[in-house]
Amino acid sequence: MSTRLTIVVGVTGGIAAYKAVGVIRALVLEGHSVHVVATDAALRFVGKPTLEAISRNPVATDLYEGVAEVRHVAIGQSADLIVIAPATANTIAKLAAGLADDLLGNTVLASTAPLVIAPAMHTEMWRNPATVANIATLRKRGVTIVGPAVGQLTGADSGPGRMVEPQAIVVAALSTVGRRVSELPVSDAPGARQDLEGRRILITAGGTREPLDPVRFLGNRSSGRQGVALATAALARGATVTLLAAHLDVEPPTDVEVHEVGTARELESAVKDASASADVIIMAAAVADYRPLEVREKKIKKSKSGERLVLELEQNPDILAGLAASKRPDQIVVGFAAETEADPSALIEVGREKLARKGCDYLVLNHVGWSEGFATERNEVVMLRSGGDIVMEAFGSKLSVANRILDIIASR
Ligand code: C5P
Repeated sequence: MSTRLTIVVGVTGGIAAYKAVGVIRALVLEGHSVHVVATDAALRFVGKPTLEAISRNPVATDLYEGVAEVRHVAIGQSADLIVIAPATANTIAKLAAGLADDLLGNTVLASTAPLVIAPAMHTEMWRNPATVANIATLRKRGVTIVGPAVGQLTGADSGPGRMVEPQAIVVAALSTVGRRVSELPVSDAPGARQDLEGRRILITAGGTREPLDPVRFLGNRSSGRQGVALATAALARGATVTLLAAHLDVEPPTDVEVHEVGTARELESAVKDASASADVIIMAAAVADYRPLEVREKKIKKSKSGERLVLELEQNPDILAGLAASKRPDQIVVGFAAETEADPSALIEVGREKLARKGCDYLVLNHVGWSEGFATERNEVVMLRSGGDIVMEAFGSKLSVANRILDIIASR
């Protein structure tokens, strides 16, 4: 088997279909070739263009398309792995019976690849004897069943039936073919990492914006991807997560409590409100060090005579330093530092100096440049602990980097 796997992701028609996008995305970011087979019902929940854009391949739905290339068997035959997420009660029943009345059924029957399914349905449907028997049948046939998780369902009810979070599905699916998610430790085996269960984690993410006038601001290029990846990973490991979101380019996970903030001072007051109840505070946001001294009521006009415009800036409070100085001994405070030093030892020196100055427990350091660090899918970091020792170095997707950071925190 080559390192790049051909993976078929079956998407069926449950509300959790929107989370299938996360599964597809993670598999693509791991470097695999992903082919989505969606049922008609799935496409009522999530659009074909989304699935095509995220999987970077055409999406197959219709049994009667591509008949000349015998597509109904070709897709299954080419697969190294099939993942169905979400798997509805209806699809589970069809799989148990070996039905082939749609493209997904044909694909599964025509394949000898390992099959991994992530059930998602209401608790009553999951506990129904028909579903229980179907799941038992599939298990006996060697199908890997991931979840469902226990938690809030689509309506007001909660119980077993939630689809497991995308990252855990990916970890479970890849482990059936002897693969690990890049750079994640073996403890990522499904269900093994609830090591943040009961912990409350406060994460700041994105970039603050300091207004100059009603239409302009001073900002930075942070996309919030690393902070959102931390929130996603912490949630998957059982934590309760609050995200203070200064402008984000990406959607945070739905189960995270999100508070949007604009300026550094708004972030400071949100951190003050939320930090008392947090066990861990991770300051991944890029916070403006300076703000305009004056915020104009009206849009600043261009000078007709070509004169320069001089802006006066004043310093913002250093939220991280303030927090580190006033934290409880049982709280862990993690800062981030994005620096432009290209030389690794100079970068670490800058990090050590910053860690000492800010007084936090850990500092996650990364190199940024015109095309590195910000708004990219991958990251390379060094994590220092108070005193300056290097405790971790990681390179990979922002999600895998997030998990490595959380490994250090969880080990405390
Ligand atoms: O000083 P620098 O901006 O490089 O520090 C980065 C770290 O400090 C990040 O964790 C960031 O969230 C935090 N920070 C802060 N308040 C500021 C500036 C940065 O909390 N005014």
